[in-house]
Amino acid sequence: MREILSMDNVSYSYRDEDEKEPKKAVDGVSFTVREDEWIAIVGHNGSGKSTLAKLMIGLLFPDEGDVNLFIEKMTEDNMWEIRSQMGFVFQNPDNQFVGSTVQDDVAFALENNGVPFEEMVTRVREALAQVNMGDFLDHEPHHLSGGQKQRVAIAGALALHPRLLIMDEATSMLDPQGRNEVIRLVEELKRKTGLTVISITHDLEEALLADRIIVMNKGKVLTVGSPDQIFARGKELEEIGLDLPFALRVSGLLRELGMDLDGEHMTEEELVNELWTSHFSK
Ligand SMILES: Nc1ncnc2c1ncn2[C@@H]1O[C@H](COP(=O)(O)OP(=O)(O)OP(=O)(O)O)[C@@H](O)[C@H]1O
Ligand SMILES: [Mg+2]
Repeated sequence: MREILSMDNVSYSYRDEDEKEPKKAVDGVSFTVREDEWIAIVGHNGSGKSTLAKLMIGLLFPDEGDVNLFIEKMTEDNMWEIRSQMGFVFQNPDNQFVGSTVQDDVAFALENNGVPFEEMVTRVREALAQVNMGDFLDHEPHHLSGGQKQRVAIAGALALHPRLLIMDEATSMLDPQGRNEVIRLVEELKRKTGLTVISITHDLEEALLADRIIVMNKGKVLTVGSPDQIFARGKELEEIGLDLPFALRVSGLLRELGMDLDGEHMTEEELVNELWTSHFSK
């Protein structure tokens, strides 16, 4: 499969006047993201996730190593061209609104990219329909719920027809329902349009849905793997301060209590099924 993004031994330190040896916020990070993948990046506070996101979109440039997008090394010269093929959604939807209505807001970036008016109107409608906000064209963004705001922010990104969608804690300010709405939307978009998604999240339940998970710790990549591979190392994840998904925690506790359980249980459904079929129905 085609490569969309690669980090090649990337390091970055924030400069602080007083510090002689600044601490590396991102330290020798390498990984590759292929077309069509959904990648979750997880890690405790301060492990370098947002810094990685800023390096991916050219808000920061690495001190060492290369960031390659669409098989091209990102430089100050090609950054705008590269960025035009990416959509970003960040944590706080309120800081992302610029338009006075939902449709103006989604149109904003298109206008900046010089998309002709007719096409802009079509794309705005399409994108808002994709996120199920087609009935809210003339609503004021500030009066929407958190989940609706994040869906409008995603529509703004989608209207650009990006090859890559990068989200940094896009669901973290939402309640469980809003979070589910956004996650389900991303799943659907991925399935329908083959969009490549990189999602930074604290929520390991959300990370379970990704194709691969990158675990960050102290600026470095601790491990990369499928959700099965990653959660097989549950203890290690807890040691670096991550909250395991509920079903995994419960099955770990049941094992400690001496219950004989097969395999890993990533979802509550899997756990309930095994408990039911192999323990309670005997
Ligand atoms: N603008 C900045 N100036 C100086 N240091 C910074 C700046 N932004 C982040 N850092 C430091 O860089 C390190 C990595 O921060 P980063 O924001 O990338 O972590 P994160 O994994 O996104 O954390 P969180 O989960 O809290 O969002 C931290 O030690 C942080 O204090
Ligand atoms: Mg962050």
